[in-house]
Amino acid sequence: MSRLLLLILAISGLTSLAQAHTVIVYPGYRGNNLHTNGTVAEANGLGTAWYNDSYIYPYGMMWEYPCGGMPTSTNRTKWPVKGGAISVQPGWFQGHETALIYINLGLGSVPENMSHVMLSPFQIIGPSDNPYPGTFCLPQVPLPANMTVNVGDHATIQVIEVAVHGAALYNCVDIEFAEPKDVAEVTPENCFNSSDISFAEVFTTTSLSSGVERTVSTSFLFLSLLSLGVVLYNGV
Ligand SMILES: *[C@@H]1O[C@H](CO)[C@@H](O)[C@H](O)[C@H]1NC(C)=O
Ligand SMILES: *[C@@H]1O[C@H](CO)[C@@H](O)[C@H](O)[C@H]1NC(C)=O
Ligand SMILES: *[C@@H]1O[C@H](CO)[C@@H](O)[C@H](O)[C@H]1NC(C)=O
Ligand SMILES: *[C@@H]1O[C@H](CO)[C@@H](O)[C@H](O)[C@H]1NC(C)=O
Ligand SMILES: *[C@@H]1O[C@H](CO)[C@@H](O)[C@H](O)[C@H]1NC(C)=O
Ligand SMILES: *[C@@H]1O[C@H](CO)[C@@H](O)[C@H](O)[C@H]1NC(C)=O
Repeated sequence: MSRLLLLILAISGLTSLAQAHTVIVYPGYRGNNLHTNGTVAEANGLGTAWYNDSYIYPYGMMWEYPCGGMPTSTNRTKWPVKGGAISVQPGWFQGHETALIYINLGLGSVPENMSHVMLSPFQIIGPSDNPYPGTFCLPQVPLPANMTVNVGDHATIQVIEVAVHGAALYNCVDIEFAEPKDVAEVTPENCFNSSDISFAEVFTTTSLSSGVERTVSTSFLFLSLLSLGVVLYNGV
């Protein structure tokens, strides 16, 4: 291959990573909140501050509960009334070699809270502490236990990703419940598991009493501290 071709391939690879900053790949998201502006000093240490007649987010918008700084959107996505697919790109930011994922539902057009748990939290294990491409997709995320909704009801799906050092990234998509036939099709193109992202269950506190699990959790803690060290070393 010529050097020029390699260069073009390298650049297009970088571009696709930079453009693939969708966090909830399917069924979409409120909007791009991978945005940082202002300085920590201007905000006097706050995550969000009113400065020079606008809000600034010196640590990044996506850390703000409940939807990463994004207000309710007007472009609702139709999502199946009995639950459906959710696909997420977890690695667009540094510090997510391992991460905990939470998926919740808020009811109504502008939900009072996001307290309806759709799935128990689970851990993903990615290929690197640096940003990485790839997605995971859960083809049939159920409605919260014992909840029934009607076609036409409004809700918001919230995806939370907790990084190795405990900071949580928030992302939401506003949905309208619909019959499955009226929902955008789920295909191997928009719903797939990348081979370099794997899953682990989150162990419970009671499991710490067993010797075997203690070993697991100790190594997990060690890995977390190691990752934290890398993050600090990288200056974040
Ligand atoms: C809604 O609109 C915003 C702003 O144009 C866009 O970034 C986002 O992807 C849209 N979301 C959906 C689910 O269509
Ligand atoms: C705020 O205004 C000052 C003075 O005009 C300017 O130097 C600074 O860059 C502005 N900060 C932001 C975050 O826009
Ligand atoms: C900072 O970003 C927010 C969100 O996009 C925007 O509303 C605000 O105007 C920006 N402020 C400055 C000073 O760039
Ligand atoms: C959350 O909102 C629901 C309505 O969607 C309400 O029934 C419930 O009491 C609220 N829960 C909390 C903890 O506020
Ligand atoms: C769902 O309903 C069943 C039967 O009424 C009950 O035993 C269970 O605790 C409920 N689950 C939740 C999460 O409310
Ligand atoms: C991705 O992996 C999860 C966990 O093993 C699994 O539940 C899900 O069905 C997989 N997704 C696809 C599209 O196969």
